[in-house]
Parts: sequence; C-alpha cells; structure tokens
Amino acid sequence: MREFTEENLTEAVVERFGNTPDPRLKLIMNSLVRHLHAFVRDVEPTFDEWMSAINFLTRTGHICTDKRQEFILLSDTLGVSMLVDAINHRHRDGVTETTVLGPFYVEGPPEMPLGSDVTGGLKGDPLYAEGTVCGPDGKPLANATVDVWQSDADGFYDVQYADREEPGLRARIRTDSNGRFYFWSVMPTAYPIPYDGPVGDMLKATKRHPYRPAHLHFLIAAEGYETLITHLFVDGDQYLDSDAVFGVKKSLIRTYTKQAPGTAPDGRKMTAPWYRLSNEFRLKLAEPARARKGAA
Ligand code: BEZ
Ligand code: FE
Repeated sequence: MREFTEENLTEAVVERFGNTPDPRLKLIMNSLVRHLHAFVRDVEPTFDEWMSAINFLTRTGHICTDKRQEFILLSDTLGVSMLVDAINHRHRDGVTETTVLGPFYVEGPPEMPLGSDVTGGLKGDPLYAEGTVCGPDGKPLANATVDVWQSDADGFYDVQYADREEPGLRARIRTDSNGRFYFWSVMPTAYPIPYDGPVGDMLKATKRHPYRPAHLHFLIAAEGYETLITHLFVDGDQYLDSDAVFGVKKSLIRTYTKQAPGTAPDGRKMTAPWYRLSNEFRLKLAEPARARKGAA
C-alpha cells in the first residue's frame, strides 16, 4: 500500500485526476491542486485557522440569494474578477477598455426611447448623458443596445431597496441611425459594496475600505461586435486610487461637467445646476473564441 506523506501527497492527488477525459478540465484540476497545496505549504495553517477558512466559505455560500452573490464579491475584492477580465481582453488598442460587470446588473432592463428619464424616481442631481457607439474604425453603429445602470445620490441601486420592486436608474436604450444615444439620469456617487457579510468581515479585518468611486455602468451590444462591459468613472472622486474591486482604468475616467441653469441639449429648461457627460464608445469586432490552454 502506498503511504501519503507531506512530501508526496501533491503528486498523488494530481495523479488521481490522471484519467480525466476532458483535457481542459484535467489541466484545471492539476493546477488547482498544485496551487492550493502550495498555498497550504506556504501558510502552514493550524486546524483552527483551516476551520475558520471553511466557516468563511460556508457563510459566503449561505448569504447568497437570487439578489446577492457573495462569491462574486469575494472574487471582486481579491482582484480575481479584474484578472479574469484582463486575461480575456488583452488586445484593446483603439477600442474602449472593459471593467467588472458587478452584482447589480439585471438581465433584460426596461427598454426606453432615446432621451428618456431613466431615474424611476430615484434621487440625485440631474445628469444628461449622451454618446456614440462606434466600431474600432469610428464607424457609427445604429441600433446597438446600450444598457445603463447606476446608484443614486445615496449610493444605492434600485435592487438594494427592500420595499421597491420597479426598476430605477437602469434602462436599455438603442442607438439611432448615427450611432447616437442620450438619456436623463442623475449624478452617481461613490458607494460601499455590500459589507454586512463575510466579504465585509474580511475587509474590516484587513483594514480595507469597501468604497467604489462614482461611476455609470454600460453594457453595449451590437451585431458582429464583442459586447462591451464597462463603466465611466467620475473624475476627481476620492476613491479612484483605492477602488474596493480594482476596477478603475485611467481611460475610463471622465469629466462630468457641471452646467449652469438654462436650456439642456434636448430643450429641457433647467432651473438648477445639472451635469453633462459625453462619450464615444468603440466596440471590438467579434472574433472566434480563442483557444484555451490544454483544450482539445
Ligand atoms: C458595482 O459597481 O456595481 C460593483 C462591482 C463589484 C462589486 C460590487 C459592486
Ligand atoms: Fe456600480
């Protein structure tokens, strides 16, 4: 009988996966075992520490619902989500950079006509957001879907209000024949990611803050192009250099310009100051899925 020791256990576990028929799964399991064992060898956990880790993961699972995904939050706060994003979006010369989707995107947002007010009654300083969706060469893309979602002046998304069912500060808008879109919203503010669960405990124990700098989310889709998932961050925000989920890229920081009362571009009479955001999004041409290491 073969005896397993501290020295030979890693190789023994890797060998046990030797018959995995799917070569990609085999590579993933081998790598997982090797890295996990290397981590344990490095940390040399006590039994109590190992049990705390098991409890942490158990609590992470228990707090998940159809509205809350604590594992994604864990991946985000450990920088894993942005690493996966970077690996899958390596060549983006001339096209808009990507960032995390985040947990507050809701599939199938309400379709609204161009120029709509998307706030659904949620509060904040008025923001007129406009832009163009183009291909990598600057060719405007008509009929692209532009999904937008964001937090309100108090830093909450609609889905975080327990007593609210209807969508607010989220919409799907389609570009016109010139690739243009525009809508009324409110100025986003910095907000904490949900920190009343195990991820929040981890942030507190490590003296990390839970804040994300103010941003608007965009998910833009057009036939023949890679779907773009990104944000536009508000220049000057105090958390741009310390985003809790490592999502900020310089190319995504924009000036949301403050406007004096007067007439907005769509003729709306503004009696108080308001903000304006303009941006051109460039989408990458769709490519065949790239080969994965180890895949057949
Ligand atoms: C967000 O921007 O909505 C978000 C992203 C990652 C974690 C939590 C929130
Ligand atoms: Fe967000």
